[in-house]
Amino acid sequence: MHARDLKQVNAVELSSAEHPWRSAHFANSLDSGYICEIVRIGSLVAGHCVMMIAADEASILILTVDKQHQRQGIGRQLLQHMIDLATKADCDTLLLEVRRSNERAFNLYLSEGFSEVGIRKNYYPAGSSWEDAIVMAMELKDFSFNTQ
Ligand SMILES: CC(C)(COP(=O)(O)OP(=O)(O)OC[C@H]1O[C@@H](n2cnc3c(N)ncnc32)[C@H](O)[C@@H]1OP(=O)(O)O)[C@@H](O)C(=O)NCCC(=O)NCCS
Repeated sequence: MHARDLKQVNAVELSSAEHPWRSAHFANSLDSGYICEIVRIGSLVAGHCVMMIAADEASILILTVDKQHQRQGIGRQLLQHMIDLATKADCDTLLLEVRRSNERAFNLYLSEGFSEVGIRKNYYPAGSSWEDAIVMAMELKDFSFNTQ
């Protein structure tokens, strides 16, 4: 993702995300050196993902696929790409948060090997009330202990 892509990235957010990030969030992510990836179909952005790496921990901050192109495997490919990048960056763990009501995303993360590791109560605004975040994690390194 480059600054010149932000208009299209913003259009994808508005088409798909219930609680879209604004362009400024993506611009800040680029400025901060976060890993910001896009998928293109032809010349159009069809999906994007932002991941932050701090020490040996990576966190996915956002993953969105354009409404028109959902359920075609793009979200899974993008997620696998981020897992690959976090592994290559030598991270131990990949973390993310998902709204309790977001069954589609939860299913995707579960099927890629993430597991639920915690709940942040009333974390996201949801209309006039609040919604829990499910914290999910994937261990990227196999630790084997010799117990002899
Ligand atoms: C979540 C999201 C990124 C998935 O992207 P996608 O390209 O549509 O997903 P894929 O086609 O790769 O599907 C991967 C898996 O996600 C789950 N999934 C996707 N769409 C689903 C739906 N409509 N109902 C149930 N599960 C769904 C399934 O487990 C699916 O695997 P399967 O097709 O083998 O059953 C996309 O729906 C999206 O952008 N949603 C809005 C933004 C959002 O919620 N982002 C996540 C924030 S944590």
